Amino acid sequence: MKKQKFNINVSDAVILSVKETDGGYFRMKLAAPVIARTAKPGQFISLKVNASGMPLIRRPMGIFSAGKGCVEILFKAAGKGTEILSKKKKGEIISVLGPLGNGFTVREGLRHAVLVAGGYGVSPVAFLYRELKRRKINTTVIIGAKNKKLLYKEGFKSPKITTEDGSRGFKGLVTGQLDKACAGLSCGTSAVYACGPVPMLKAVAQVSEKHGIECQVSMESMMACGIGVCLSCVCSVKEGMGTGYKRICADGPVFDSREIVWRT
Ligand SMILES: Cc1cc2nc3c(=O)[nH]c(=O)nc-3n(C[C@H](O)[C@H](O)[C@H](O)COP(=O)(O)OP(=O)(O)OC[C@H]3O[C@@H](n4cnc5c(N)ncnc54)[C@H](O)[C@@H]3O)c2cc1C
Ligand code: FES
Repeated sequence: MKKQKFNINVSDAVILSVKETDGGYFRMKLAAPVIARTAKPGQFISLKVNASGMPLIRRPMGIFSAGKGCVEILFKAAGKGTEILSKKKKGEIISVLGPLGNGFTVREGLRHAVLVAGGYGVSPVAFLYRELKRRKINTTVIIGAKNKKLLYKEGFKSPKITTEDGSRGFKGLVTGQLDKACAGLSCGTSAVYACGPVPMLKAVAQVSEKHGIECQVSMESMMACGIGVCLSCVCSVKEGMGTGYKRICADGPVFDSREIVWRT
């Protein structure tokens, strides 16, 4: 049997700041030099939000930025764990596992990238955006939200905004803007990168595939171990003539959209 390698880089990080920001999000900056040095856009970290009690299981968070010894995350207080996280103070210590997962792939010869973000998907997409800019790759950013109050767009230059109720930008879903952005792009030198709710990812995959453009999706699921051991995070993938499973935490979270068996 093939021996599995598990990524278990755990460190104690000092919280440098926690700020409430646009869209009802919190931005937390951590001193985490090893993660800052090694993290790739699309990877994530897993945080022990309460050192001595519930919740016992770590909470996964995409990496918003990494560099100069620091890592930033962007999150919503969605439940018990993230509520605790939002109340942390500067100077507190938090146990961090990571960087985890594979991250986005930027292949040689890529000339144009279309980035699509929904919800907290804006966090890993912002990290990727800065990396693509650094590599001087033309980038179109499309951000979707239900309404303007839930929107986070800081750090992107002229993103295309879509809101379902039309309160900001284009009224409708991200796919309308994606369809326009893909028209006229050359398949061989373009790619779509997406992170957000699974129904959005499925729709983004369909539009990209219609245009023959490679699409990488960052999948989400509930996670327990975060390092590939417990199998609580699997998604269905195509395997030969049939289907199989892959672990979102260790084999992903980023997958080629054509690999996924969409269930929603
Ligand atoms: C790879 C990965 C990266 C993530 N990155 C971010 C991020 O950058 N910012 C951010 O705000 N959130 C992110 N999440 C989601 C975040 O981990 C969950 O919101 C968090 O675990 C909820 O914990 P909680 O204790 O606050 O909520 P709980 O009390 O456990 O649950 C509250 C609600 O959140 C839902 N929920 C719990 N876990 C998830 C999950 N993994 N995905 C979707 N819904 C969930 C529950 O169904 C419930 O409705 C990420 C998740 C994954 C798997
Ligand atoms: S969360 Fe345990 S295998 Fe993915």
